Amino acid sequence: MKGFFERVKNFFANLFKKKEPRLKEDGTPYTKEELKALKREEKLKKKEEKKKLAAQKKAEEKKKSDHYIEVCKEQSDALRDGTFQPNDSFISLQHINKIYPNKTQAVFDFNLDIQKHEFIVFVGPSGCGKSTTLRMIAGLEQITSGALFINGKFSNLLEPAERGLAMVFQSYALYPHMTVYDNLAFALRQHHVPKDEIEERVKRVSKILELDPYLDRKPGNLSGGQCQRVALGRAIIRNTDIFLMDEPLSNLDAKLRVQMRSEIVNLHRELNATTIYVTHDQTEAMTMATRIVVMKAGYVQQIGAPKDIYNHPANVFVATFIGSPAMNIVQAKMVGGDIILSENHKYHLPAALKKKVAEFYKDNPMEGDDITFGIRPEDVIIVDSPTKDTLEIQLDFVELLGNEYHLHTAIGNQKFILKAPAKMEYQVGDKINVKFDSDRVHLFDKKTTNCII
Ligand SMILES: Nc1ncnc2c1ncn2[C@@H]1O[C@H](COP(=O)(O)OP(=O)(O)OP(=O)(O)O)[C@@H](O)[C@H]1O
Ligand SMILES: [Mg+2]
Repeated sequence: MKGFFERVKNFFANLFKKKEPRLKEDGTPYTKEELKALKREEKLKKKEEKKKLAAQKKAEEKKKSDHYIEVCKEQSDALRDGTFQPNDSFISLQHINKIYPNKTQAVFDFNLDIQKHEFIVFVGPSGCGKSTTLRMIAGLEQITSGALFINGKFSNLLEPAERGLAMVFQSYALYPHMTVYDNLAFALRQHHVPKDEIEERVKRVSKILELDPYLDRKPGNLSGGQCQRVALGRAIIRNTDIFLMDEPLSNLDAKLRVQMRSEIVNLHRELNATTIYVTHDQTEAMTMATRIVVMKAGYVQQIGAPKDIYNHPANVFVATFIGSPAMNIVQAKMVGGDIILSENHKYHLPAALKKKVAEFYKDNPMEGDDITFGIRPEDVIIVDSPTKDTLEIQLDFVELLGNEYHLHTAIGNQKFILKAPAKMEYQVGDKINVKFDSDRVHLFDKKTTNCII
């Protein structure tokens, strides 16, 4: 209260305070006429500055749109001269690049042909360009160069609404003041769909997503999983056959995520849809995808079915990104037919693998001397007694996960993990003998990190 009176007092004090007269440079006061002229001049100056700023802004916008027209023209020219051509795939991304206005290149030469009914997952670490690529397909981000064909139609310049797709984002972005029913019906009302049809479509969607009991509730009274289902519902109610999903499950807890994972896959099958799904979670990628696109720093690293990517990773990055615990990677030397993993650990390479390495390095056999060795934890076999093919290792750390052990050890000074059944007994400090499943050994070129075997 005191503060309020203080402020009122100051207000009136300032109102009636006698203003200091403005002085000229030589210290003499302005006359009334001079002051009037000065004020007029100042007002004019301000107005001009404002005008200049507006013109600048307009010019910048024009430049942006000129650039856009230029980009579109280039793409249309390339389309005309046959650089880009539609093919018989449902969605075709050809040599797509994305450079943001701040000159960040987020996506480099992205190529992918998607067939109808595929469930494609873009996976990779944060900032690798997954969302950017998805948003370019959705039409929410301009394609800098390259071509996008949807259903055989050049689609770079189509408005999002013209592309026949629906998108689900990480944040469910439901209208909090509307009921589930109204949230589902919203887009249809916007498009003036008749009331009967809206009712029928909401009913259908709420049945598929088991949202019937919650149609009268507002999002504030729903669980995270239910909210995410409403968000999915808002996408599927639009009767499109392409779904783009950007990390739709990352706000949910682990248990719900697992449940929603299978629900989304089932939904995809039920609707006969084509889905492109973005995640940084390799388990989601492995369990949901028909094909995975692994990305790193804007570049596609590998495209393939989950099993192929797991069993035949194209390089060290893919090998260690897909799979948990990650594949063991050991920097090694190849001497004769032996892979020297450390001072005390040697792996005798079977003749067939040795031949493959020799073929890989036929132009420069010396390069094969330094090699990167990889083996997944589950492909390390514990044996009872040592033989010439086994390695002795000491356990540094033992984790019992209930169903299995993760045994942490080291080869030389390089960390190494293997799995063992829970029915055994292991202690830190135990020395065990292991061998590698030769069919599951991976070798990578040290320089390029590309797969040899
Ligand atoms: N509007 C933008 N302006 C400039 N750079 C951007 C913009 N949006 C994204 N980027 C940059 O582009 C790169 C790719 O970003 P993107 O959002 O596609 O990554 P992401 O793979 O989806 O990552 P996350 O898993 O963190 O969502 C990043 O380096 C990011 O900083
Ligand atoms: Mg993202």
